[in-house]
Amino acid sequence: VEANEAWREEVRRLAAEQDAVVLAHNYQLPEIQDVAHHAGDSLALSRIAAESTASTIIFCGVHFMAETAKILSPDKRVLIPDERAGCSLADSITADELRAWKAEHPGAVVVSYVNTTAAVKAETDICCTSSNAVDVVASIPADREVLFLPDQFLGAHVQRETGRDNLHIWAGECHVHAGINGTELAARAAAAPDADLFIHPECGCATSALYLAGEGAVPAEKVKILSTGGMLDAARETSATSVLVATEVGMLHQLRQAAPEVDFRAVNDRASCRYMKMITPAALLRCLREGLDEVHVDPDTADQARNAVRRMIEIGR
Ligand code: 13P
Ligand code: SF4
Repeated sequence: VEANEAWREEVRRLAAEQDAVVLAHNYQLPEIQDVAHHAGDSLALSRIAAESTASTIIFCGVHFMAETAKILSPDKRVLIPDERAGCSLADSITADELRAWKAEHPGAVVVSYVNTTAAVKAETDICCTSSNAVDVVASIPADREVLFLPDQFLGAHVQRETGRDNLHIWAGECHVHAGINGTELAARAAAAPDADLFIHPECGCATSALYLAGEGAVPAEKVKILSTGGMLDAARETSATSVLVATEVGMLHQLRQAAPEVDFRAVNDRASCRYMKMITPAALLRCLREGLDEVHVDPDTADQARNAVRRMIEIGR
């Protein structure tokens, strides 16, 4: 406990000395979330990074998140405690693949999830996150074709919500969320009939949850498809005493803090993102002491990507 306290104080002291704001995604280790100035979902953290007056941003999350902060604020120093923290979903489409897909659908509007590389964002019209994907697609005139990438499960969610039949969806997935399957969810829900189900739209089990509701196995009002930030709002409002959570397990820490009286359980407690967990307490300290790893985005790529990211942070405010 004392060592932890000394670490916390050192992190905060070094951050103040360097005029740095420390941001942590909801999937980070509990101690990283607690020491950060702000914890949140991808959209909230992008907005905070864009509005912050600090000259350095320390992004405790994965690389595309730090890159997004750099695209929005090219004059700030952006650091990530370990640049190897990638994302299997961002890796599921390259800029070349996107250019080839666009050539097959001339005139289509390209909507990319924020979980993409800067080079893919530079080929994109509007970025989105899981909390505003439906609003972003709904903002596009109904007669325009849309290319939605790279997550097939988020794409299916957007298609259900918007009812659009001119939405083309890339077949990418996040290995952590795709691994939370419908059979497991059905068994957990049957064992806890009064529980709410909080399901991230990147999950393979989102369709199964809606199927269970359609079959009457679970009351429809208990099934909530939510971004990580949306889960926190729902946790503060729920009247349920237990909630089954289908997303990366780091989320449980924030949920338990938001609603200590509710029993939150993971649908799959092995759903841990090894990239998110590369940001260790030691890595954060090294980052503050040595200024590593610094995130650079090629200035031309950043200029081409900036409008798409700006539109993302404006839609759904
Ligand atoms: P959100 O925080 O936007 O829900 O994103 C989830 C995610 O998988 C980020 O890697
Ligand atoms: Fe990427 Fe999935 Fe990890 Fe999120 S949980 S950072 S989408 S690999």
